[in-house]
Amino acid sequence: MQTAISRAPKAIFTASLFTLAAISPTLQAQGAAPSPVPANAPYKNANTPTEKRVADLLSRMTLEEKASMLAGSGWMESTPIPRLGIPAIKMADGPLGVRSWAGSSAITNAAGNPVKVLTTSFPSGVAMAATWDTALVQREGQAIGQEVKALGRDMILGPTVNINRVPLWGRNFEGYGEDPYLTSRLAVAYIKGVQSEGVIPSLKHFAANNEEFERHRIDAHLDERTLHEIYLPAFKAGVQEAGVWTVMSAYNKLNGVYCAENSDLLTGILQKEFGFKGFVVSDWGSTYSTAPTVNAGMDLEMPGGPPMQAWLATGQTQAAGNGAGWLTADKVLAEVKAGTITESTLNNNVTRILRVIFESGLFDHPHPGGAEVDTPAQQAIARQGATEGIVLLKNTGGLLPLDPAKIHSIAVIGPNAAVARTGGGGSSLVKPKYAIAPLDGIRETIKQHAGQSIQVTYALGVGMEREDPTQDTPEARAKSLNEAVDAASKADIAVVIVGRYPKLEGESFDVKTMDLPAGQDDLIQAVERANPHTIVVLNTGNPVTMTKWLDQTPALLDMWYGGQEGGHALASILFGDANPSGKLPVSLPKKFEDSPAASNYPGQNLKVNYAEGLYVGYRYYDTKNVEPAFPFGFGLSYTTFTYSDLKVSHGKKFAGKVLSDQFLAILKVKNTGSRPGAEVVQLYIHDGHSKIDRPIHELKGFQRIELQPGETKTVTFTLDRTALSYWSPQTKDWVADPGTFEIQVGASSRDIRLRAPLELKP
Ligand code: BGC
Repeated sequence: MQTAISRAPKAIFTASLFTLAAISPTLQAQGAAPSPVPANAPYKNANTPTEKRVADLLSRMTLEEKASMLAGSGWMESTPIPRLGIPAIKMADGPLGVRSWAGSSAITNAAGNPVKVLTTSFPSGVAMAATWDTALVQREGQAIGQEVKALGRDMILGPTVNINRVPLWGRNFEGYGEDPYLTSRLAVAYIKGVQSEGVIPSLKHFAANNEEFERHRIDAHLDERTLHEIYLPAFKAGVQEAGVWTVMSAYNKLNGVYCAENSDLLTGILQKEFGFKGFVVSDWGSTYSTAPTVNAGMDLEMPGGPPMQAWLATGQTQAAGNGAGWLTADKVLAEVKAGTITESTLNNNVTRILRVIFESGLFDHPHPGGAEVDTPAQQAIARQGATEGIVLLKNTGGLLPLDPAKIHSIAVIGPNAAVARTGGGGSSLVKPKYAIAPLDGIRETIKQHAGQSIQVTYALGVGMEREDPTQDTPEARAKSLNEAVDAASKADIAVVIVGRYPKLEGESFDVKTMDLPAGQDDLIQAVERANPHTIVVLNTGNPVTMTKWLDQTPALLDMWYGGQEGGHALASILFGDANPSGKLPVSLPKKFEDSPAASNYPGQNLKVNYAEGLYVGYRYYDTKNVEPAFPFGFGLSYTTFTYSDLKVSHGKKFAGKVLSDQFLAILKVKNTGSRPGAEVVQLYIHDGHSKIDRPIHELKGFQRIELQPGETKTVTFTLDRTALSYWSPQTKDWVADPGTFEIQVGASSRDIRLRAPLELKP
């Protein structure tokens, strides 16, 4: 079912539009009473093919009814047409779990908000990306789909697939990191999971929404090749491989035109190039015109109805640059009358919405709600994600894992130790029924391991910047620091959990600096001086500057924002109940100035030039020899792996199959340590002969494999021509230049263990 929309052959789609045009009413003059609908109307029959249902239903709609469908009826509801049985599509944010739909995040995140929707808080997108576990992300998508239905909703606003271009983007935590291939694989998995439940996902934000600075006004300028190679692949994969039902247009302008009225983007690329057949929903408050928006292929404006009017009426909404209320029925009808929107265009847009209503099953099987959410199975997925996503960055002298039999005391320190910082701020912040802080997780795990024999002390160390005014004074900081040093000096082990929280990292603003919040560097340094067995844990979505303390830090973990199970996950890694297997989905630069877009951020005069082009993340660091603190794909384990026997083959050589455009890379990976563990084997392509400039290598395959001590597994990658290709601005297509490529297989972008040539014949 889920692939039908995008995979419908073009010819069939075109034919169906002709049919629609033929039967569609200019017919029903405005205001004329619509004909009654018989109980056996073909569109009501679930056995009628989708395109026929849409055509039949459309033929029964008045012009007013069609126009009414292009805008929402509420904050998170599309417009229903009860006369015809067309339901409202009931939405909820996304993407890291299901959120209250009762209003903007300013309302639903407010402490006093009476509407409580308590659901599973899954790890942030970047944490899930660090698992490199597509099967798990698909299960997460499915679990979220189940929770959406259980709450009587129909659509989840996610996944977020915008690329981490700058280490300061406020929403980097929501996305899947810096690489288009990894992001694509995870996007496809998430969408398949959600759609398998008959729930509608929304692939967002289309496109080039890579900073929050002036997000409603900023104009992202980038060339066609960069757009296709870096910023569009996850959208393309979502459409072509997962058959995603909806795409959300972004707030920003792209090359001078707002994304919501950008016909090059919405019609040219999304519909014509990718073959998208579902509908485009606007981001909330991202529309600025009527005819250009409708004509560009933007189908559903959100929010709508009285909540939209009330929101727009506040001075703040418009001052921030939001636009809304442009696709109300009266405005759309006026443009149809004026001829600036043709009825056939209106039919097309409504067709795309109806198609999704049928295809998703929503028309035939509405979601009544009232079922359980945050089930043990859903919690287990959240915990697995949080655990697999933790990246072990440093482990000098094998300080980790901690042996509960040998430790008598542990000091747990930091502004993120006793509070569960589950996610960044904004429309993705889920309210869970419970959330495990690192301190809770550590205490619980110790009890399981050793009864009460390990003494745990806690010290704040430093108040979180701008959180509690009583902690934000120099005196309070000095006191907290002394207490932390005291606790650390008396304990066998110190664990310092630092990072940010929603007020410092979230939607609608960028992170001010890559440096840790006030006092946290000093805290780490002071604790490290007091205790040589210090483990630093990063609890953020974005990279942070580590130069002041990294050399002295024996052990370092990145737990990102781990959702409600973050504390359990961290404790299981600290004590070796789980073996770390997370790998960085984003390079961690030494300092902001080292990052490729630093000099082109946030832009000037509301224009940001993506002058670094393709050189985003490791494509930049590895090509231009800029050493990051930790490279893309990196992550240690408590065991070790060796790679051997890489063989690359192509053509007819395999299993009698004719695979002239397919290539196989086969290697062996062995667990050479003493613990079971998982390794993420990464495959990069190096093209040294192309006619056009290319980054030194690009990720084109990965596999997460689990190995027992001493076990060897054979890993097979199947590649096709697209893995070797670049986007040619001349031919406006993907091109692979014949010649010798190099297949690189390794454990990070800078730890290539095996290389082999691959010959592409003309
Ligand atoms: C965000 C979207 C979100 C929408 C609805 C917008 O501000 O950019 O990601 O889905 O609000 O809450």
